[in-house]
Amino acid sequence: MSRVFVAGSINMDVVATAGRHPRIGETVTGNAVRYFPGGKGANQAVAAAKLGAPTTLIGRIGKDAFGDQLKAFLAAQGVDVAYLRETAEAHTGTAIITVANADNTIVVIPGANALVDAADIAVSNLAKGDIAVSQFEIPLPAISAFFKRARAAGATTILNPAPAIEFDSAMLDLVDILILNESELGLLAKTGLLDTDDHARLIGAVRSLPTKDRIICVTLGRRGVLALVNDEPVFIPGHAVKAVDTTGAGDCFVGAVAAQLADGQSIEAALDFANAAASICVQRMGAGPSMPTAAEVGAALSTSSRPPSGTHNHRR
Ligand code: ATP
Ligand code: RIB
Repeated sequence: MSRVFVAGSINMDVVATAGRHPRIGETVTGNAVRYFPGGKGANQAVAAAKLGAPTTLIGRIGKDAFGDQLKAFLAAQGVDVAYLRETAEAHTGTAIITVANADNTIVVIPGANALVDAADIAVSNLAKGDIAVSQFEIPLPAISAFFKRARAAGATTILNPAPAIEFDSAMLDLVDILILNESELGLLAKTGLLDTDDHARLIGAVRSLPTKDRIICVTLGRRGVLALVNDEPVFIPGHAVKAVDTTGAGDCFVGAVAAQLADGQSIEAALDFANAAASICVQRMGAGPSMPTAAEVGAALSTSSRPPSGTHNHRR
């Protein structure tokens, strides 16, 4: 099996649950406050490691209690933390999250994540066949350096451009597989998109990007995932489950795709597997601790009932 390298953020998620979200200027009384390991990079690394891929996380934490707890959690999930750097210059990344009716709002305070630089990336011993994964919660120059290194080594690069920000098209040139949700696609394609938009509109937006041979996967929440592979649309319907907290669903999806590709699976099989993995994640509270094992995903795939859908369904 090849290896997965994730360069990305590590956060402590401070999660308040409530019956509903407050409106701006309003105070609501919540139910509970809980602390969950999170951060897009850490979540994706945990997902890949729990699914069986040898996984290394490159990133930064502060020299503080959150940093210690997160490092211990990551190691316990089987993530290689040898390339995690502790820095006294900033606190560990923190996300303030409210969850109500399974939906969330998130404010991220990057802290140490904002200090990840090209020198941190340089320590990674990427090799041909490895999978290099990143997202937008660490500085863009560090991601570029990471992907350049990955490309030079013959690794496959996966970018999850989340949270959505404007970025230079030179970054896209370094990407083999783009995994994003509909609002991130909308920002890139310069058009407003909803996860309820029809496939033709979403694929039209995907085709408007400078795609070349790139694989582009659009996650659509409960609707599943729509991808463009070899210029062919592939749609995999979502699993019908009761979501309690969708935080980290996109990260679970990305980590699962990376783990499957590292295991030599086709992209179509990887998307099907990741769709099932993420449907398990949304049934659990928190991000990092919600990532499933391969056995759990296998069980979900064998018992799932998925809604029928029209276009180019991929079936296992
Ligand atoms: P987040 O930012 O909350 O992590 P996201 O917007 O990046 O999420 P989504 O498209 O919401 O990502 O979800 C990613 C994947 O998770 C979906 O493609 C699907 O496989 C799964 N998923 C999400 N929500 C549900 C749901 N309610 N039921 C079943 N599967 C879901
Ligand atoms: O994608 C979910 C993650 O985004 C959370 O764990 C939070 O830390 C924010 O980074």
